[in-house]
Amino acid sequence: MSIQVFVPRDSSALSLGADQVAAAISAEAKKRGVGIDLVRNGSRGLFWLEPMVEIGTPDGRIAYGPVMPEDVTGLFDAGFLSGGKHPLYLGLTDEIPYLSKQERLTFARVGITDPVSLNDYLAHEGYRGLKRALGMNGAGIVKEVTDSGLRGRGGAAFPTGIKWNTVLNAAADQKYVVCNADEGDSGTYSDRMIMEGDPFVLIEGMTIAGIAVGATQGYIYLRSEYPHAMKVLNEAIDVAVASNYLGTDILGSGKTFHLEVRRGAGAYVCGEETSLLESLEGKRGVVRFKPPLPAIEGLFGKPTIINNVISLASVPIILDKGGEFYRDYGMGRSRGTLPIQLAGNLKRCGLVEKAFGVTLRELLYDYGGGSVSGRPIRAVQVGGPLGAFMPESQFDTPLDYEAFANLWAVLGHGGIVAFDDTVDMAKMARYAMEFCAIESCGKCTPCRIGAVRGMEVVDKIIAGKDHASNVQLLRDLSDTMLNGSLCALGGMTPYPVLSALNHFPEDFGLQNKQQAA
Ligand SMILES: Cc1cc2nc3c(=O)[nH]c(=O)nc-3n(C[C@H](O)[C@H](O)[C@H](O)COP(=O)(O)O)c2cc1C
Ligand code: SF4
Repeated sequence: MSIQVFVPRDSSALSLGADQVAAAISAEAKKRGVGIDLVRNGSRGLFWLEPMVEIGTPDGRIAYGPVMPEDVTGLFDAGFLSGGKHPLYLGLTDEIPYLSKQERLTFARVGITDPVSLNDYLAHEGYRGLKRALGMNGAGIVKEVTDSGLRGRGGAAFPTGIKWNTVLNAAADQKYVVCNADEGDSGTYSDRMIMEGDPFVLIEGMTIAGIAVGATQGYIYLRSEYPHAMKVLNEAIDVAVASNYLGTDILGSGKTFHLEVRRGAGAYVCGEETSLLESLEGKRGVVRFKPPLPAIEGLFGKPTIINNVISLASVPIILDKGGEFYRDYGMGRSRGTLPIQLAGNLKRCGLVEKAFGVTLRELLYDYGGGSVSGRPIRAVQVGGPLGAFMPESQFDTPLDYEAFANLWAVLGHGGIVAFDDTVDMAKMARYAMEFCAIESCGKCTPCRIGAVRGMEVVDKIIAGKDHASNVQLLRDLSDTMLNGSLCALGGMTPYPVLSALNHFPEDFGLQNKQQAA
């Protein structure tokens, strides 16, 4: 039997030369007359070690990394195909602390299986959730999701079961399931990793959603900058169709679910669910008024489940192992696990799936290893470009939707971007306003005009012009944006702006917090 050699095909590994490494390994094996079975897996999410090559051994997989094409001859010389020692040797993959301390439920297969092999998926507990769901009625499936306590992972943390129940109870000749794969938040990549590393789990989750509420057509609205995810998803969909896991009469059940991928329009606001639906219908991505909710009148005016990739990819394990199993993880009203994405100025950026309750400090230091610059971490922005900046004094906060809300912060999609003490928080506040001005869909005044005026006011504060009245003006403007915007783009821009002002007044040229008040 040939030796299995795993070289990731995830974008992170590809950007660091994984294809060249794979080619070098194949060529060297051929030259030496050694038979290998080269598997292009997803990434384990340890980005500082990419391209991370793994070898299948009787004791488990052994990892080497980061591997460059020029390392390959030396690795063969060191006997890496049987786990030989080499400077890039990392030991058994499962024992690398960054991985062994995680609680991977949604990411259970990512990096382990061949993303487009249905057999591999089935051999690793795949499609068990769907098979169970096919024996249940819609209300039973929705109840299982409700019992799990799953809340939307796209940002708003709305209970998934309640959303599904609304679509289930809406009478219509056609319903849809839409997957929000626009993943526009800064420092986030968990959606992409799932789609590139385990596309069947998303396909299975969407199929279960369709069967639960009676929707026969699904769409994945995919961020335009994700060409590799597009390729892998389409390959996996073709395999699922050919094997009767998608299409008509799924596995002989009489149930139908078709699935297609659509390329996003390339605007941040197209991740907002109603703007996404407009874009999916072929129009400009402009936010719709709510009500009606998409669950009642969504895509083409029909009842529509719209969920984030991670929300949908969490469904198969919930159906397989039961809502209670999933609910046992987490704290308070934040149940289950969150795939957290570490980014910015950290030594070890990567994907950490943990139960809710892990603290920011554990993530930044135990996992992230502190700043890559070696300087103190001064602030983190959690939850994308609309998330609050959090100072060191808040690093002991557990990852929990309510704990964050109490600090006027958000967890969002679980992206954490770290900054060291060279960051200028006034510039970050200005950038938040600028981002909103650039990305605004233009439908409502507080956002369209407010963000432009906001930039000007921050500029005046930075220039030291009439501090007291301009700080007051910025607060009044933020209040208008917060309460008067039609969607969270304008509505949440005050989070990064005011958190920067409140926690770091000195960067705005203010002497103390009283002056910033
Ligand atoms: C400006 C803006 C951008 C958004 N971008 C995304 C996105 O890229 N991906 C996502 O899943 N949700 C995004 N959302 C949240 C969606 O509107 C919506 O809440 C989500 O798709 C619901 O799915 P969930 O309940 O599974 O989280 C965005 C919201 C706003 C206001
Ligand atoms: S807040 Fe901004 S993005 Fe949202 S509807 Fe208003 S103008 Fe459009």
